[in-house]
Amino acid sequence: MELEEDKWNAELYQNQHDFVWKYGKDLITLLNPLPNENILDLGCGNGELSNSISKSGAKVIGIDQSGTMIQQAIKNFPSLDFRVADARDFSTQHFTLFDSVFSNATLHWIPEADLVLKSINTCLKMGGRLVIEFGGENNVKLIRDALQENLSKKGLHLKEPWYFPSLGKYTSLLERCGFTVEFANYFSRPTALLDAELGLKNWLNMFCSQWLNTLSREVLNEVFDKTELDLKSTLFKNNQWVADYRRLRILAYKTT
Ligand code: BEZ
Repeated sequence: MELEEDKWNAELYQNQHDFVWKYGKDLITLLNPLPNENILDLGCGNGELSNSISKSGAKVIGIDQSGTMIQQAIKNFPSLDFRVADARDFSTQHFTLFDSVFSNATLHWIPEADLVLKSINTCLKMGGRLVIEFGGENNVKLIRDALQENLSKKGLHLKEPWYFPSLGKYTSLLERCGFTVEFANYFSRPTALLDAELGLKNWLNMFCSQWLNTLSREVLNEVFDKTELDLKSTLFKNNQWVADYRRLRILAYKTT
């Protein structure tokens, strides 16, 4: 099957943003995958974490909405099962019931959180676990505020594509969607961006270009340049860009 190329720059992700999945390795400890368990990696990106989970002997299926990322995942780990799928509706995939659903750094891309949790609930066994980490309230707030300010100076008022709920809001939603929360943590995780000089610019290009794709490259460069300048005194430390990440990390069980 030919997979469709899309907005994601798999190379920039693989080469400059490997912290996304490196931080996720910690989450696998919380998942504690067991041999022969069926595990869904929701938003598997380039497949690195699916591969790490599979080393436990668990049977992993990795899904991502991006055909480009799935192509990269298949190239990286050809023996694993990767598929393009929409987190808001897995019904077309005819999955087996999973022992666990795992997701790292994905759920903040999908504002329809209720649809995602209903989908997850449908594909989990009763008592199955959900182990997730994603951006919480005020995630990358300094970056977002600076970016919005520079957009608005150009008369541009654009709604952000992300969903960064508070811990209270999200755990309540989990309960309404049939889960019992065993562990939930909201924490700051300052995140060093790889390239000393271009770190912030690479981050903006990787994660904001699609959202801002109606702007010309010229306007986008002006906005990114000014945002970088404005943030230098707060986010450039010891010769390195450090993004102001805030995470939600949660373990919950399907109980209804
Ligand atoms: C995050 O992983 O927290 C994130 C990534 C891209 C844009 C915003 C947040």
